[in-house]
Amino acid sequence: MIKIEEITFQETFPVRHPVLRAGKPIESSHFDGDELDSTKHFGIFIDNILVGVTSLFMQHHSFFDHQTQMQMRGMAILDSYQKQGLGEKLLVTCEDYLKKEKNALLWFNARAKAVPFYEKLGYQIIGNSFEIGDIGTHYVMYKQL
Ligand SMILES: CC(C)(COP(=O)(O)OP(=O)(O)OC[C@H]1O[C@@H](n2cnc3c(N)ncnc32)[C@H](O)[C@@H]1OP(=O)(O)O)[C@@H](O)C(=O)NCCC(=O)NCCS
Repeated sequence: MIKIEEITFQETFPVRHPVLRAGKPIESSHFDGDELDSTKHFGIFIDNILVGVTSLFMQHHSFFDHQTQMQMRGMAILDSYQKQGLGEKLLVTCEDYLKKEKNALLWFNARAKAVPFYEKLGYQIIGNSFEIGDIGTHYVMYKQL
């Protein structure tokens, strides 16, 4: 059985760490703003096992002037559960959460490897590529909801 629930930021670490921060200290799985009330964390469970996470941060980007805009960070599905439609389900949950507001926009810094996944789900690149530390090339992507 698949379910998606709000979780705490600490609960994201067992998925964020192996998928997004492999080989780095566990503390690198903590993001600035994780503990704010305005930040929302979602987990996707299969038979009560957490297999994917993502988080929404109240963060404006200078590219956009929408009053309601959130940045998604830490989208990760455990390796053996990828390409089974779970990432899509998590992203749709984030969209539904934001759609409660009028004229909302969802944006994020997408790893180059994940761009085709987001494009499939209707997200667009804006601006030029840029590098984030030792993680690699990223693009800002967004969707008006
Ligand atoms: C990127 C990620 C979140 C996608 O989640 P997922 O559960 O594997 O993706 P889904 O199965 O929901 O894919 C939805 C659609 O996108 C496609 N897709 C998924 N990843 C893709 C990729 N890297 N390239 C091309 N298409 C991709 C799927 O084939 C599927 O298409 P379909 O509906 O035509 O079959 C997941 O693979 C992941 O955690 N990757 C490693 C970490 C990462 O890159 N996170 C994103 C950081 S910005």
